[in-house]
Amino acid sequence: MSQDSHDRAQASAANRHALPAEYQRGLYEAIFRRRDIREFLPDAVPDEVLARVIVAAHHAASVGFTQPWDFIVVRDAERRREVKRVFEEERAINAAQFSGDRLGKFLALKLEGILDAPLNLIVTCEPDRFGPAVLGKVSISEVEVYSTCLAVGNLWLAARAEGLGVGWVSIVRNDALREIFAIPGHIIPVAYLCVGYVQAFPDRPVLESAEWEARMPPRSLIHFDSWNGGTESDGHALADLVQSPDIWRGLLTDATPCDTGRPEQAHRSEGAEVPNINLKARRD
Ligand SMILES: Cc1cc2nc3c(=O)[nH]c(=O)nc-3n(C[C@H](O)[C@H](O)[C@H](O)COP(=O)(O)O)c2cc1C
Repeated sequence: MSQDSHDRAQASAANRHALPAEYQRGLYEAIFRRRDIREFLPDAVPDEVLARVIVAAHHAASVGFTQPWDFIVVRDAERRREVKRVFEEERAINAAQFSGDRLGKFLALKLEGILDAPLNLIVTCEPDRFGPAVLGKVSISEVEVYSTCLAVGNLWLAARAEGLGVGWVSIVRNDALREIFAIPGHIIPVAYLCVGYVQAFPDRPVLESAEWEARMPPRSLIHFDSWNGGTESDGHALADLVQSPDIWRGLLTDATPCDTGRPEQAHRSEGAEVPNINLKARRD
């Protein structure tokens, strides 16, 4: 087959099943505009919106189609105050890991919106929901937790599409969550989420703007054929393309190149001049 006819065959195979361009755009927009949110407006979230977001989560992939998740919708103020107390204790323990400038930065970060958000949502995982014999679970025991994380991913993106902010709070203890919310011992609280409308979705992760971490150049994360396979210097087209704004042409009109990486991450971000996707906040 000539290169030309090969390219044509490939293009028509893609066209047969690809979603229309505006759907693709919507998906990528939701992915790139999703943010972890810690500042919320008090406005109530309509049940219909929340219902869509939960159904989107429920349509995630799950090992053996076990659907191991449950959703606890938390509006009760007293229970949330208890969670906030646990958060404060755990935050102090977290802070003890850092010193100097890093400690100062950590203490300045707002890392939750437990009481500001109009509602909190706990996504739990019930391993062995359908008994121990699960299709796809013989070799890896954590597969139900992986599945639950996929549900959270769906939820986060659907919420973004709805204009709803979501913030994941992991600075809490699962034993405390079990006690506060009467969660049985065999159920794992996977994600404690704050959910609500926002004043704005930041362009960049808050931890990036605060110079806590930077996004790594994607090509430094790609290996070819083995862990030790060449990454960026071997002339692989893919390694260059993942950093090229050109791949988004026609899909994301306001995608612009921007720098990534900070000097202290030089081991990962060499070539930090390479482009990354930086989406400007929507002005509508
Ligand atoms: C499993 C998990 C736990 C997280 N826990 C917290 C947390 O306790 N507090 C917080 O402020 N952000 C938390 N985050 C949010 C991350 O800091 C955030 O996803 C990251 O900085 C990238 O920002 P972005 O989500 O806006 O792209 C968590 C995210 C994940 C996936």
